[in-house]
Amino acid sequence: MTWKSEQLSSNELIIREALLTTGRLPKHVAVIMDGNGRWAQERGMLRVEGHKEGMESVREAVKLSSQLDIKYLTLYAFSLENWKRPAREVRFLMGLLESYLKKEVAELHANNVRIATIGKTNALPKPVQKVLQKAIEHTAGNDGLTLTLALSYGGRWDIVRAVQMIALDVRRGKVSPEDLTEETMRSYLSTGGMPDPDLMIRTSGEMRLSNYLLWESAYTEIYVTNELWPSFRREEYYKALSDYTLRERRFGQTSDQLRTATVGPNNTSKPTTMERILDAFR
Ligand code: IPE
Ligand code: IPE
Ligand code: MG
Repeated sequence: MTWKSEQLSSNELIIREALLTTGRLPKHVAVIMDGNGRWAQERGMLRVEGHKEGMESVREAVKLSSQLDIKYLTLYAFSLENWKRPAREVRFLMGLLESYLKKEVAELHANNVRIATIGKTNALPKPVQKVLQKAIEHTAGNDGLTLTLALSYGGRWDIVRAVQMIALDVRRGKVSPEDLTEETMRSYLSTGGMPDPDLMIRTSGEMRLSNYLLWESAYTEIYVTNELWPSFRREEYYKALSDYTLRERRFGQTSDQLRTATVGPNNTSKPTTMERILDAFR
């Protein structure tokens, strides 16, 4: 049975309907999955147990994104800075990643998910690189959710890499410096083919970007929850999405301008019944 044909509980059906009716669901959700270690430590367990439990939250987030027809989910799974953690923890995380990809790829494929990756993936252990490549190739033709795993990723690293490639293309005469635009820059980043994230969720209450999607998040709505990643399950994801549907994205303009210019998504003047349901849920 595919995720989309699963029967939802009546509560979930209501919230899902309310979210869809707003017409304001994000196209691209980026997540900083933080707090695994604290989740485990709070329970007197080893940090790695938190990472294990966090995998279930990954499954839930992927499934719900797909069920709600969100087009892009970009998960920060391992930062460039995370290489500085104790070797045992890094090894464990790499093993977890490998087994996730091996175990889940068939189900992801059956649900039309396309797997992608951003980051300095050639730094990953060879076996991980292999399964990752296989998963990407296997799901390349899917056009449902694009699940991008940020692995060995850093926003600054990606920007420097893009600038290096632009410089090389300038040297080869393919690009002229005068013609460089924000769009050129975007196309050289590893997120080149994706729209910017509409919503960025960070768990565990930390108010920082930790080098995630620095260029792309210029106008992203940020949602920080105190919930630790292993406890971030469907209900928490619904909360984040409901909160997002209430945001007024002004992109530098004034509220008045938006109210007169838009009917629909940005018009917050009259809350609908569905919006009132969402409000109660938050
Ligand atoms: C997030 O949880 C997972 C990764 C960064 C790989 P942490 O491991 O950072 O957990 P805390 O923040 O120490 O609780
Ligand atoms: C951010 O979490 C990276 C990932 C979630 C993969 P960290 O736990 O590494 O971030 P800092 O060090 O607290 O900023
Ligand atoms: Mg952390």
